[in-house]
Amino acid sequence: MKIGYLQYDPQFGDLIKNREHMAAQLEKAQADIVVLPELATSGYFFSGKEEVEKLSETVPGPSTDMFLQLAQKTGTNFIFGMPEKTKKGFYNSAVLITPEGIGGVYRKVHLFFHEKDYFLSGESFPLFEIKGVKVGILVCFDHMFAEAARTLAIKGAQVICHPSNLVLPEYGQLTTRVRALENRVFWILANRFGTETKGKKQLTYTGESQIVNPGGEIIHKAPAKEEELYITEIAPEEALDKNVTELNNIFEDRKPRLYLP
Ligand code: ACM
Repeated sequence: MKIGYLQYDPQFGDLIKNREHMAAQLEKAQADIVVLPELATSGYFFSGKEEVEKLSETVPGPSTDMFLQLAQKTGTNFIFGMPEKTKKGFYNSAVLITPEGIGGVYRKVHLFFHEKDYFLSGESFPLFEIKGVKVGILVCFDHMFAEAARTLAIKGAQVICHPSNLVLPEYGQLTTRVRALENRVFWILANRFGTETKGKKQLTYTGESQIVNPGGEIIHKAPAKEEELYITEIAPEEALDKNVTELNNIFEDRKPRLYLP
C-alpha cells in the first residue's frame, strides 16, 4: 500500500487559492492514501465565529467536489481537514474522499485552546476501510490523548491518519511515535508549516510531518519550513501483529478492569 502526505502552508481565508494550490500539487499524487493538514482549505487562526461561519463548508461542498475530481483522476484516496458547517453547528473535521465519493467524516473530539469558542466536539472515533486496510483518523490535539489512538487500534485500525496544525514544538512529533509504538500501527502525521498573524498575535506551525511504522520508527520526516509531498510503500499487515515478545501481546495483556474510565 502506498501512503503519504502533503505538507503545505494554507493561506488564511483564501479558499479558492488553497484549493487551486492543493489541486496543482496533488494531480500527480498516485497513492492509496494521501493525508493533508488540519483545516487545509481555510487556514487555522480564526478571530471569531463569524470567520468560521464564512470559511466553513458543507459536506458535500466545493472542497469535497475538488477532492473528488482529484481522487477520480489519480485513483488516490484523500483525507483533508476543513471547517464543516452542519445544522447543529461547526466542526473541525477531516473528510475521506475516495474515487467513488465521500468515504466519511471524522469530527475532531479534543478541541485545542480557542477552538472551544467556535467548534463543537465530535462524538465518536469512526473506523474506515481503504483497499481492505482499516484506517482511523485523528485531528491534531487528539494526539495528546492516548485513549483516542487506543480506541481506534482496538477497533482494528492499522493506519492512523493525522491531519494537524501543530504549534507546540516537538509534542506531536514525539507522541505520534509513541502512539504508533504502543498500538503497533502505522501513523501518517500531515502537519502544516508557516505563520499566521492576527493583530499582535502569531501562531507558528511546526512542519516536520512524519510517517511512523508500528515499531515507532520514523520512515520519513519532512523539513520544518518547506512544502513536501511524500509517498512511500508500507506493508499494512505488519500492523496486525500485536506481539512485543513471544509472551507479550499488547492487547491481550491489557488489564481494563484496573484502568479508570
Ligand atoms: C491543534 O490542535 N491544532 C494544536
